[in-house]
Formats: sequence, structure tokens, C-alpha cells
Amino acid sequence: MLNFEFKNPTKILFGKGEIAKISKEIPQDARILMIYGGGSIKNNGIYDQVKDALKNHDMHEFGGVPANPEYEVLVKALQYIKENNINYLLAVGGGSVIDGVKFLSAAANYDGEPWEILTKPVRTMEGKGMPFGTVLTLPATGSEMNSGYVISRRETNEKLSSGGPGLFPQFSVLDPEVVRSIPKNQIANGIADAYTHVLEQYMTAPSSADLQERIAESILISLQNAAPKVMADDFDYDAAANFMWCCTMALNGLIQKGVITDWAVHAIGHELTAHYGIDHARTLAVIAPSHYRYNFETKKGKLAQYAERVWGISEGSTEEKAEKAITRLEEFFHSLEINTKLSEYTEDFAGTAEKIERTFTDRNWLGLGENKNLTPKDVYKIVEMSY
Ligand code: NZQ
Ligand code: ZN
Repeated sequence: MLNFEFKNPTKILFGKGEIAKISKEIPQDARILMIYGGGSIKNNGIYDQVKDALKNHDMHEFGGVPANPEYEVLVKALQYIKENNINYLLAVGGGSVIDGVKFLSAAANYDGEPWEILTKPVRTMEGKGMPFGTVLTLPATGSEMNSGYVISRRETNEKLSSGGPGLFPQFSVLDPEVVRSIPKNQIANGIADAYTHVLEQYMTAPSSADLQERIAESILISLQNAAPKVMADDFDYDAAANFMWCCTMALNGLIQKGVITDWAVHAIGHELTAHYGIDHARTLAVIAPSHYRYNFETKKGKLAQYAERVWGISEGSTEEKAEKAITRLEEFFHSLEINTKLSEYTEDFAGTAEKIERTFTDRNWLGLGENKNLTPKDVYKIVEMSY
């Protein structure tokens, strides 16, 4: 097992009705800016619950953060924060709103041009970000219990990530009741995103980190079990609760400790969102199967372990099990009505592989994957296989 350090300071308030408790988590004298997205929280009662919980606090509002949080919009929120002496942020939304708030938390205390915190290797250290909490409305990204974030800039077709130990939420409310109002395609996205988060930290080479591997496998199995129940028309509280907690556990840092991790699927997937606006989770479903086929030799041991322990496939050689594993993965995405080929999302896909190869070369991203040896040319081939 590799050496590791692990600290996750985010307090989780989990369960029905927990939103009412947030007033105790935020200092009474805070000047709060509540930040939300396109308005779903006004239709499903979450906005009213938050307003009610904080009725004795000084709270301002900023709405309109779009999916794949947009730099231009966030810069307006940053101006509001500075002009109104805001000193506490509250994200009420999915990964996009939470990521937007992390960017604001970092940018509020940064003196240079805000975009620099995404383009220069600037990590936001403890005590350097503005404090914030979150009320999660869409289980998917794990952003509610980690310190990373991803910001888009339409002007330049860029989607870049950053983070640092200063950007963990102080608290996050996870009330599974929020799942009631989420459209089915977004629930499917949430399952696929969390599932792929586990894969990025697991589908490398077999390791000696037995506990981390078995926790990862358990999250995959629990997501598979919850999937048909949360996709069904009738609301199932316990299925929603399991789905929600799996998404958080998939990317709160625990399963990546002591092991090597990949993250190439996300790096490539973000480019598909930047160029075509394809939902984040769907870009992962497009890239993951091709990535595993292209890197079959280095990943086949772990693919076979996944086939055995997660899908119960015990027959066949390592290669046969590994091949079945990739097919099962595709079938799982299809069961969520998620397509796994780029051509199913856009007719305009010709040239995508070249574009991404060039972008990665320009950014000096010359060695992706768990062994840091996938070149932009390899990325070209993976993307081409996903057409
Ligand atoms: O904007 P509103 O009106 O709130 O509607 C949202 C949005 O349209 C809607 N929604 C959210 N909760 C709802 C709801 N609709 C009805 N009822 C509810 N309870 O869902 C839509 C999508 O929301 P969004 O926040 O964009 O989705 P998601 O949570 O999947 O976040 C995606 C973003 O997170 C980034 C992605 O790249 C993408 O930008 N990621 C962040 C990560 C992190 N910070 O750790 C890791 C991930 O890999 C990912 O890259
Ligand atoms: Zn993701």
C-alpha cells in the first residue's frame, strides 16, 4: 500500500429534514451569500426550507449559476461578494453550484486575475478560502465532501479544474428527499458519474490495498442495486438514501488513499463537454469503455477482478473475464438510457480526436493515466475508438 495522508473536515448532516439545522452551522453574525442554479430549488421547496432555516441570519442571494458553471456568471457573483462584504457562502444545488461556490471561495481571497487560479498551479490552502457550506440537491459529483472543482469558460471552450485543502465545505446537508424532484436523465447522470468516479480510482492494476478495493467494489454494487429503484416512477426513500451516500463516498478521498489512480476518462470527457456541451456523466460513458479497451493489457487484471467481484463472473480466463467486464459496464450505462458512442450525441464528431490531441499537447498534458504514460497520440486513439 502506498503512503498517504488523509483529512476530510466536512461535517455531513444526513437525512430527512436536516436542512432545518443549518442555522446552527453558520455563525450568527455571518453575512451570507446563498448561491443557486437555474431555479429548480424554487419549484421543489428547497429554497423555502433554506430561507426558513436562516430567517434570523443576514442572507443575500445570487441565482443563475448554469450547469457546467460558467466563469462569466461567477465573476458577477464575485463582484457582489466584494461589494457587499460577504463573508460566508452557501451553495444550494448540484455539483455545478457547489463547484461555482468553491471557485468563489478561492477567488474571494485571491488578489490576481481570478482565471489564474485555474490556469496556474495555485492550490488554495487551509484558511485561505472563504468559508462555505452546501445543501446538496443532486447526488452525483461528490463535490459536497471534497475540495476540487471544475469551471467552464465558453468564450474559449475551456473546462478546467482546481482545488486544494482550503476548499472543503464546512458542512453539507444530504437530504435524500431532494431526489423526488430530479428528472430521470439527471438521476441517470448522477449514477453514471459516481460509478465512474469509483472506476477512475479502481480500474488500474491490482493492488495490496484490500480495504480500499473492497470499499470501491461495494460502492459499485450498491449503485447497481439502487439504480433501478431510483430510476423507477415511485419514490423509494431508502434507495434514494443509498444512491446519495454512494455518490458522496465515491469521491470524498477515502478510496483513493494508498492506491494509484487514473482520471484519464475525466480529463478527456471534460473536453467533450467543453466542445459539444454533452452532460459530464455522458462524456464518461463515451470514453470509459474505449479507454479500458485501449489499455486492456495494463488493466486486464483489475477488469477481471471487477468482473468477478462486482458482476459475479467466475468462468473463463483473465482476458475473457476482462472483456466481459467492459461489456457489462456498457450494458449498465445502457440500462440508465445513457449512450456510449460520441456519434450518438453529435453529428459533428469528425476531427474531435485531433482537437483533443492538440489541446493536451498545448497544455503540456503529455502523460495521462495511472502510469503517466498515455501521450496525446494515445488520447487521440481512445477518442477515435469512441466515435
Ligand atoms: O440549475 P438548477 O435549476 O438547479 O437545475 C439543475 C441542473 O439543470 C438540475 N437539478 C439539480 N438538483 C435538482 C435539479 N432539478 C430538479 N430537482 C433537483 N433536486 O440538474 C441539472 C444539473 O445540475 P448540475 O449541478 O450541473 O449537475 P451535477 O451535479 O452532475 O454537476 C455537474 C458538474 O460537476 C462537475 C462536472 O464537470 C460538471 O461541471 N464535477 C465536479 C466534480 C467535483 N467537484 O468533485 C467531480 C465531477 O467529476 C465533475 O467533473
Ligand atoms: Zn465526474
